[in-house]
Amino acid sequence: PLGLVTIPTVVHVVWSRPEHNIGDDQVATQIEALNRDFRRRNDDVSLVPPVWAAVAADADVEFALVDVTRTRTSVASFDTDDAVKSARTGGADAVSTDTTLNLWVCQLGGGLLGYAQFPGGPPETDGVVCTYTAFGSTGTAAAPFDLGRTSTHEVGHWLNLRHIWGDDGDGCGGDDFVADTPNQAGPNYGRPAYPKVSCDNAPHGDMFVNYMDYTDDAAMVMFTQGQAARMAATLRGPRSGLLA
Ligand code: ARG
Ligand code: ZN
Ligand code: CA
Repeated sequence: PLGLVTIPTVVHVVWSRPEHNIGDDQVATQIEALNRDFRRRNDDVSLVPPVWAAVAADADVEFALVDVTRTRTSVASFDTDDAVKSARTGGADAVSTDTTLNLWVCQLGGGLLGYAQFPGGPPETDGVVCTYTAFGSTGTAAAPFDLGRTSTHEVGHWLNLRHIWGDDGDGCGGDDFVADTPNQAGPNYGRPAYPKVSCDNAPHGDMFVNYMDYTDDAAMVMFTQGQAARMAATLRGPRSGLLA
């Protein structure tokens, strides 16, 4: 067993308008949210339907903020093209991606809340990007994405978690390669009512309370033991540089 892993985290605030230049207090609320969610210290884990209470996992990962960088840019809005990750393209360069989580906060366009790079990609673009209205739980964080769960979801991807519905559109053939998440058709949004049945997964239905679904921040409250094991395998494998 790996035991508790603490991941050094650098937050890059990239701003073109003053409201993008979020405060250190807002950054702190994001780190606190990650530490609650990855340690199953979130009070709202009580929303997990009893049938899944035993698989709601403490992932044994914590995050330690080591630096906040601030970069003024002329780029009004960023996309998934990684421009925010390089000074050359109006963003901020990644630092020490072998040993550090890089977390960029900026204005993302097109209603995008965030995106992540999976393990094994180019070091210079490694990390997670989050829009400034879905980062932390104070300041510019706006409902229904104001509990810091966009970063929880994206860091899940960064530690190799797939979407809970298996990324096959609305089909029932996709797989998230995790055994204790029910097979699920497509993403869920908003705040579904239990049970939400798809793909013959009655009676309990979709695990829409999972961080790797697309529900509102107030509805996503757990990783499973299987997801925690997959993240631990990532930390033992492609991201072993993070182990102190
Ligand atoms: N990449 C996803 C998106 O931009 C993130 C969804 C996060 N969901 C949330 N409730 N915070 O749509
Ligand atoms: Zn996702
Ligand atoms: Ca599954």
